[in-house]
Amino acid sequence: MKQYNVCVVGIGAVGTEMVRLLKRRNFPVKSLVILARSERTETIDGDPYPVKVAQPDAFTGMDFAFFAGTEGAKGASQTLGWEAVKRGCVVIDNGDDFRMDPRVPLVVPEINPEALKEHQGFIANPNCSTIIALMPLAELHKAARLRRLIASTYQAVSGTGGAAIRELDAQTRAWVAGQPLPREVYPHPIAFNLIPCVGSFKDESGESTEEVKMRRETHKILGDASIRVSTTCVRVPVFNAHSISINAEFEKPLSPDEARALLAKAPGVTVVDDPKQAVYPMPLDASGKYDVLVGRIRRDPTVENGLALWCAGDNIWKGAAQNAIQIAEVMVQRGWIRR
Ligand SMILES: NC(=O)c1ccc[n+]([C@@H]2O[C@H](COP(=O)([O-])OP(=O)(O)OC[C@H]3O[C@@H](n4cnc5c(N)ncnc54)[C@H](OP(=O)(O)O)[C@@H]3O)[C@@H](O)[C@H]2O)c1
Repeated sequence: MKQYNVCVVGIGAVGTEMVRLLKRRNFPVKSLVILARSERTETIDGDPYPVKVAQPDAFTGMDFAFFAGTEGAKGASQTLGWEAVKRGCVVIDNGDDFRMDPRVPLVVPEINPEALKEHQGFIANPNCSTIIALMPLAELHKAARLRRLIASTYQAVSGTGGAAIRELDAQTRAWVAGQPLPREVYPHPIAFNLIPCVGSFKDESGESTEEVKMRRETHKILGDASIRVSTTCVRVPVFNAHSISINAEFEKPLSPDEARALLAKAPGVTVVDDPKQAVYPMPLDASGKYDVLVGRIRRDPTVENGLALWCAGDNIWKGAAQNAIQIAEVMVQRGWIRR
């Protein structure tokens, strides 16, 4: 089997899982190079990995570059993403910088793999909450056509990155010891609290950047901008795995049993739905799983063809690193690497 020269840019929460999952999923890696802002050695699962400073020439000879650096003008994707493409490398980017760029396919392999066919070397991974919500919804959309989506997210601190994981840990310990809570990442304590802001508030709409991303990305991935989407994104004191409450209205009727049967067959989705026996998706169970867990499937009695459901998925795996690797796997399997 052909093997590939692979590069991971950024070695924080997502980059680290990227390295783990490349190994765990047996991705055909010929060589692995890790790039970040500073040179050092990182230890992952006991193995030392040299980290080099990211710069354009590092991409020469690379087949795939998985970008997991921070977003924005100084971030890796904006400064180096297209430089890597120019050097013949396929970039799969975890950040938001180019998700809505018309040149860039926005892909969840179980939902819209065909979007990869005409790629121009740069592919974007959707936002973690969008991926986790759409994994069950896309299957139901195929059967009954989604018209309106109301979603409330319960997002783990790992979604903010490594520093936020350390902040929840430090605040929890300080709380138990009766000491003042150390605070650097979030504007409020996250331990024993909820923060109804994920991202920031940039415009006058009152929506956070995460909420805007969920609508736009849903439209791009499902290829239907007429779906009405309203979300409320909330950061919760959970270390890993996002949970999402969903109310969905469809064009055609779809009973909870029909939805359960469709979801039971959907790739990448596991139905966990026996509430009377206390069986439902929870972040502790979703963490470290490839599949998105879905349950609490019931009728939404407030609209004619409505369903309510609850899902939980690993935001670092399916919401980021795993989805990115699955994109590369599809490209390898279908021979869609070269453009
Ligand atoms: N965490 C999630 O659940 C999640 C989900 C979906 C998407 N994402 C996206 O994935 C990306 C990474 O997130 P994360 O949570 O892993 O962040 P993180 O823990 O803060 O790590 C960021 C990494 O990026 C590196 N970096 C930053 N600017 C760079 C540059 N200009 N050149 C090279 N490397 C650079 C940093 O290098 P140093 O270590 O040298 O400082 C660090 O290793 C972000 O775009 C994020 O929005 C995250």
